[in-house]
Amino acid sequence: MSAFDAAEVLERCDVLATHTAANDGIERTYLTPEHARTNWTVGEWMDDAGLTAWQDAAGNQRGSLPGPTSGSPVLLLGSHLDTVPGAGRYDGILGVLMAIAVMGRLRDRGVTLPFGIEVLGFGDEEGTRFGRTLLGSCAVAGRWDDAWWSLRGPNGVTLHDAFRAFGLDPDSVGEASMVGQPIIGYLEAHIEQGPLLQDADRALGVVEGIMGARRFELRMTGEAGHAGGMPYGRRRDALLGASEVVTAVEELARDAGAIGTVGRLQAHPGAMNVIPGRVDFSLDLRAETDGLRDRVWREIEEKALKAAAARNLAFDVSELHAARATSVAAALAAAVEAGIRSTGDPEPMRLMSKAGHDAMAIADLCDYAMLFIRCKDGISHHRDEAVREDDVAVALDAFEAAVLAVAAAQV
Ligand code: GLV
Ligand code: MN
Ligand code: MN
Repeated sequence: MSAFDAAEVLERCDVLATHTAANDGIERTYLTPEHARTNWTVGEWMDDAGLTAWQDAAGNQRGSLPGPTSGSPVLLLGSHLDTVPGAGRYDGILGVLMAIAVMGRLRDRGVTLPFGIEVLGFGDEEGTRFGRTLLGSCAVAGRWDDAWWSLRGPNGVTLHDAFRAFGLDPDSVGEASMVGQPIIGYLEAHIEQGPLLQDADRALGVVEGIMGARRFELRMTGEAGHAGGMPYGRRRDALLGASEVVTAVEELARDAGAIGTVGRLQAHPGAMNVIPGRVDFSLDLRAETDGLRDRVWREIEEKALKAAAARNLAFDVSELHAARATSVAAALAAAVEAGIRSTGDPEPMRLMSKAGHDAMAIADLCDYAMLFIRCKDGISHHRDEAVREDDVAVALDAFEAAVLAVAAAQV
C-alpha cells in the first residue's frame, strides 16, 4: 500500500516526466501517444487510490468515487496532464496527482464523504497542439464547439482525425459533458507560476480569480526581395512591421496594467539574404478584467494597422481563444482558506492568478476555488520548474482539509 505522501506525489511527477515527445524539457500534447501513456499510468494510480478510473469521450482521464446515494452531488478535483513544449514536471500534473493522493489518504483513514468525487486529469489545457486552449475542460463543461474539428496541429492533422487516431469517436464528444449533473463545485491545486508566494515567504495561497485571456495569430505581409539589391525606399519588410508591434505589445500592455506576450514569431522565407516577405506571430493577452484586456487589444491593433500602413504591409488577425476573467466562489474559497489555516498559517495569502487554468472553463459548469503552491523563483513553462517537498506535504494537508471543509458545509 502506498503512502500517498509528498515524496510519492513527487516521484509520480518524475514518472510522468518520462512520457514526453522531446528530451529538452517535457512535451506532452493532446491526443498523442505520450498522452495515452499518461492516462494509462494515472488511471492505475486512480484505481490504487480507490477511485474507478476511466477515460472520457474527450480523452480526459477521470477517477470516480460514488456518493452515499445515487442522487448524491459530486465534488470535482483536478487539473491538467498536458504540457507546453520544453515544460517542467509540475504545471497541472501536481494538481492531478495531489487530488489522487488526497483521495487515497481519505480512503486509508476510512473517511466517507457526503458526496461523490470526480478526479479529472484534463487532456488539454495548454492548447499547445491545436492552438485552441482548454479543450479538455471545455468538453466537460459542455462548451465543445464543432468549429474546432478543423483545427490543425503542427503536422497538419486535424483535431477530428487526432480524435480518431486516439481511439475516440468525435460524434460522442458530448458524452464528456457533465452539464445537468448535480455538482457541488471544482477545487484545483496548482503551482503559482509566479514569484509572489516565495517573495512573501509563504508555502500556500488562496486564489481570488483568474485573469481573462485572448490569444491571436497575427500576420504582417509585405514582399520578399534581395537583401542587397532592393533599396530601403522600396522595401516592404514584414519583419520590421512585426517588430514595431512586438515592442508596442509590451509598452501598451505594461502601461495599462495588462500582460501581453509574443511567444512565437516566424519570418518567411527565413533566409539571411532575403527581405522577410511575411511574418506570422502570436499574441497572448491577459488582464484582470475583460474590459481592460479588450481595450489594450484595440490599442495594439490600432498600432499594428498604423505600422502596416507606414510600411505598405497588410496586417491580418485571427483570434484563437478568448476566456473571460473569472472569480472564485466565496464558499469554496473559504474551504480552501480553512484548509490552509489548518496547516498553521493563520492568514492565508490571497492572489489573482495570472496564469490560465482549467477552472476558467469549468466556471461555466459550476463554482470553483483554487489552492496555489509556491514554486522556485516563480519559474514555470520551463524545464527548471521546481517545488519543495515540504511545501507539497503542507499542500496535501491543506487540500485534504479543504475537501473535508466542503464536506462539513454539506452536512
Ligand atoms: C496556461 O498555462 C496559461 O496560462 O497559458
Ligand atoms: Mn501551463
Ligand atoms: Mn497549468
